[in-house]
This record gives sequence, C-alpha cells and structure tokens, in this order.
Amino acid sequence: GLPARVTIYEVGPRDGLQNEKGVVDTAVKAEFVTRLLAAGLPIVEATSFVHPRWVPQLADAADLMTLLGEAGKGLPVLVPNERGLDRALELGMRHVAIFGSATETFASKNLNRTLDEQFAMFEPVVQRARDAGLDVRAYVSMCFGDPWEGQVPIEQVVGVGRRLLDLGASQLSLGDTIGVGTAGHVTALVDAFVAAGVGTDRLALHFHDTYGQALANTYAGLRAGVTTYDASAGGLGGCPYAKSATGNLATEDLLWFLTGLGIEHGVDLGQVVDASVWMAGQLGRPSPSAVVRALAGA
Ligand code: HMG
Ligand code: MG
Repeated sequence: GLPARVTIYEVGPRDGLQNEKGVVDTAVKAEFVTRLLAAGLPIVEATSFVHPRWVPQLADAADLMTLLGEAGKGLPVLVPNERGLDRALELGMRHVAIFGSATETFASKNLNRTLDEQFAMFEPVVQRARDAGLDVRAYVSMCFGDPWEGQVPIEQVVGVGRRLLDLGASQLSLGDTIGVGTAGHVTALVDAFVAAGVGTDRLALHFHDTYGQALANTYAGLRAGVTTYDASAGGLGGCPYAKSATGNLATEDLLWFLTGLGIEHGVDLGQVVDASVWMAGQLGRPSPSAVVRALAGA
C-alpha cells in the first residue's frame, strides 16, 4: 500500500530562485520563505552558501539568513565545502545539505571537482557539521540521466549515495536533475538502494518536471515506500550548471496529488498557491504549475 503520511521538503527559495535570470531582492526572498512556512510546509530550504560568482542569485545568503533571524536557523541551506560551512556556522544554522554528483561530468561542471575529489571536499564538511551538532542532508544529482553522459547506471548512483551516507549524512535526496526519469526507473533505483541496505526512511526523491513525469515518478516512489519528496512552490527551479534542467515538481501539483490519494501532508494548498502567485508577480511571469494556474485562474 501507500504511506499514510509524507513530508514535503520545499526547495523553491533555493532550487527555484538559484535559476532565475534576475536577482530577486533579499526582502522578497525572506517574504517568500515566511509565506511558505506559514502555509505549513515543515521544511523550507532557504539558500546556498556557495561561491557568489558561481550562483550570483544567492550571493545574499548571509543577508537573507540574518533577515530571517531565529526562524531561519532551523532551515536547511546548501554548503559545498568548508568555506560554505564556516559561513553557515557563523550564522547559527542547524541544518546543512551537501550536494554530490552521480556522474563525472556534472561533478566537474557543478563543483569543479572529479567524482572522487567531491568526497574529499565533503568529508570535513560532514565531520565538522556533525561535531557541531548539525544535521546533514546529502543530494545526489543526475541519478537518472545526465545531459553529457546519457543514462546513468543504477550501481553508479547507489555507489555514490552509499559513500555520502558513509560520510555521516542522515538523508539522501536522489535528484532527477534534468527530469528524464520514468516510473520504472524510480522503482528500480529505490529497490537497488534498499537491496544495498539503505532503507526508504533515509531516502528522499527530488524530481524536476522537464518531461512531465514528476507525479508519475512520485507515485512509483510512494509505492516503493519513500515518504519524503522535494518540491518547489509554483514549479520554480532548475540548475544553472545543467543545461536542459527546468523547474522542480511544483509543490501545488504534489499537494493536489497527495490529497487525492488521502495521504496526509499538513500543508495548506491555498496558501502555497497564494505565495506562488505573489512570487510570479515579483518575477514578472506566470507559474508553470498546472495546479497554480487552475486554482488561481491565472
Ligand atoms: P572552486 O572555484 O573550485 O573553489 O569552486 P575553490 O575551493 O578553488 O576556492 C576558490 C575561491 O573561492 C577561494 O577564494 C575561496 O575562498 C572561495 P580566494 O582564496 O581565491 O579568494 N570560495 C567560496 N566563497 C564563498 N563561499 C564558498 C566558497 N568556496 C570557495 N562556499 C565550489 C568550488 C564548490 C565553491 C563551486 O564550484 C561552487 O560554488 N559550486 C556551486 C554550484 C551550485 O550551487 N550549483 C547549484 C546547486 S546543485 C543543484 O541545484 C542540484 C540539486 O537541486 C539536486 C538536483 O536537482 O539534482 C541540489
Ligand atoms: Mg534540483
């Protein structure tokens, strides 16, 4: 059967806004985060402490977290390396996420490291974060396909995921960065992790909706027992270092789907729609989410 309850891990302010052409004002970002929390989203990934030249859209990470104050300290932020961790620790953050690549090419494009070097970069980050009492999530990108390497072998993804968990990460988020995955592939990948000793309680699924497969893939994930799903309000998103990556699965599409299945999520759909419509106004273009467009009549 399907799980009775799922956790939605909101990535709009980070995965969504990192990919915008323009840079959104810090105060607008803070209001976006605040509105998403008010809608009942239990986890809102706020920003990234990456190199400001690599992702200028999130160069204001410290200002944003300062503006959010106490409420911000419980929100996860991306940190690729020790410099990023130092910046997050200075601000009292309690949850960080590292982001590895399942492929050699994307490790180089996104992290300026080889596949093996990425683990050497992450090792002291996870160690020091854990010593400081922080929780560490680990992403794996290009779990299904890679724009440069094509289909990515399941054993390769499981190998990278295991190494990130072995460093001390508590949860692995399996990313379909360019949205090419299909339901059968999701089932096979989750089953391979379980066979390798990684329980579904340690897995999250992170779908981009480029090929319109994200909800079908979510259904495969639910059937395989995964209960944490990443989504982005309004379907914002993408990755500046992966050509052909478009928006994440829209949070609203996910909420509509889960509610229809009678799966508890604890989030107010109307309030998320309002936040997305407001954000679309700030960005000057409509949300790509079908559910937002239907409910907002936009
Ligand atoms: P690098 O150029 O190799 O960095 O970049 P470096 O270690 O050689 O350091 C060079 C200089 O950068 C140094 O300064 C460092 O201090 C500085 P200098 O001594 O020359 O004056 N520096 C930093 N400054 C601020 N914050 C930092 C930082 N690190 C170094 N954290 C690096 C390596 C990892 C930093 C770079 O490649 C980078 O920032 N990459 C981030 C790319 C990114 O954010 N991509 C999007 C997120 S991933 C994603 O979207 C996928 C996901 O959604 C899942 C999915 O969909 O699959 C998560
Ligand atoms: Mg992503």
